[in-house]
Amino acid sequence: MRKEDLLHKIQSHEAGIGVIGLGYVGLPLVLRFVEEGFNVIGFDVDPAKVSQLNAGQSYIQHIEAGRIRHLRSEKRFEATSEFKRLSEPDCIIICVPTPLTPKKDPDLQYIENTAQAISKTLRAGQLISLESTTYPGTTDEILLDLFKKSGLEAGRDYFLVFSPEREDPGNARFSTRTIPKVVGGTTSSCLELGVSLYQQIIDKVIPVSSTRAAELVKLLENIYRAVNIALVNELKLLTDRMDIDIWEVIEAASSKPFGFTPFYPGPGLGGHCIPIDPFYLSWKAKEFDFSTRFIQLAGEINTSMPHYVIEKVGAALNDRGRSIRGTSVLVLGVAYKKDVDDVRESPSLEIMKLLGERGAEISYSDPFIPKLHKMREYDFSYMSSEPLTENTLRSKDLVLIATDHSTIDYQWVVDHSSLVVDTRNATKAVCNGRDRIVRA
Ligand SMILES: NC(=O)c1ccc[n+]([C@@H]2O[C@H](COP(=O)([O-])OP(=O)(O)OC[C@H]3O[C@@H](n4cnc5c(N)ncnc54)[C@H](O)[C@@H]3O)[C@@H](O)[C@H]2O)c1
Repeated sequence: MRKEDLLHKIQSHEAGIGVIGLGYVGLPLVLRFVEEGFNVIGFDVDPAKVSQLNAGQSYIQHIEAGRIRHLRSEKRFEATSEFKRLSEPDCIIICVPTPLTPKKDPDLQYIENTAQAISKTLRAGQLISLESTTYPGTTDEILLDLFKKSGLEAGRDYFLVFSPEREDPGNARFSTRTIPKVVGGTTSSCLELGVSLYQQIIDKVIPVSSTRAAELVKLLENIYRAVNIALVNELKLLTDRMDIDIWEVIEAASSKPFGFTPFYPGPGLGGHCIPIDPFYLSWKAKEFDFSTRFIQLAGEINTSMPHYVIEKVGAALNDRGRSIRGTSVLVLGVAYKKDVDDVRESPSLEIMKLLGERGAEISYSDPFIPKLHKMREYDFSYMSSEPLTENTLRSKDLVLIATDHSTIDYQWVVDHSSLVVDTRNATKAVCNGRDRIVRA
């Protein structure tokens, strides 16, 4: 099939779409394409997700089951684990995880497995787009190299692009459609088709000159956040000693109408992106005998923050003649940020681990996370969220606010707790009982 034929299919919304990896990134994309009238097949290795979707259920808090049921009733979407069906869609979008290994090197097994699966069925006239966050060079070095073995040529027979995902879970001001999308292609034909594909579902598409540039765009965005969060976290450590309120300073500095973007300190970095993505670049930089010092330093500061929180908890108890050992601590909020149901890389987990190691009796309450599951580095699978009641609060020696979910009334929390350690400034508007609050 010629480029013009695929272009026509894309523009007329007749192109079949395949989305590989039906998680936080893949599922919203599926919804968007179906909304625009495309037929979509979703591929995932997790049979539970496949059957839930096919039964019209959702496993992501901010995606209502009604939207999935609607997809299914329209008969324009089905989920499958049968990867030989990858020959069916004209356009395939890859949204699989890109975590780090325990040694903080890129773990590309998911991209590699997906690339292998696609290479088995790759045919002329297909457009492949990688969306998983990764280091510059991945699209060329893994996908392009592997697909060459098929005898097909990129830009002539099939088309290859990289287009980073920019989701902000929990942010109601932006949707998949309104977040501008960057695309880089292996050749100019690849780019043209990639831009056209995304223009069908996204208001603004920004082409860049290569897949490597597009890969680095995403890393720059997240490195920018990691470094600036580290900066305010470090300043928080200093202002704590100087007895200055860092949140007050940030709020006042934000009144500057130019040249200042506020970032806020916290108990550490969380989420699937910001604690992880910068290390993809650090790793790649080594190939060029280059050390990414800002990234290293930001990583050191951000990963030390849970230890600072523990220090503050210890000091708060010490002031009351107590120790961490034997103290019952309710961790309020285990999601990595407010109003999301995602615990990946959440600093709350590290804090719970450190508290447990010091002999505290830990429990947690989080309206978004009813149960914890086993993760690579933590196993709190025996724990469920405690109901947030007056009795629960009263029964604990200390309540540690680790995530500032907006559904919680923090004055009420303080009213019924004997001691509150607040890592997020969630209690800023609390008037009564301030002597029971320690900021960390
Ligand atoms: N979550 C975000 O807010 C966000 C934002 C921007 C970019 N990203 C990036 O997008 C990518 C995906 O992230 P996510 O948050 O959607 O992850 P996720 O874990 O929510 O979803 C990934 C899905 O891929 C599936 N999967 C794993 N290996 C597979 C394979 N070989 N074939 C098919 N499916 C497979 C998993 O079962 C899972 O359902 C990552 O690279 C991430 O860095 C995520």
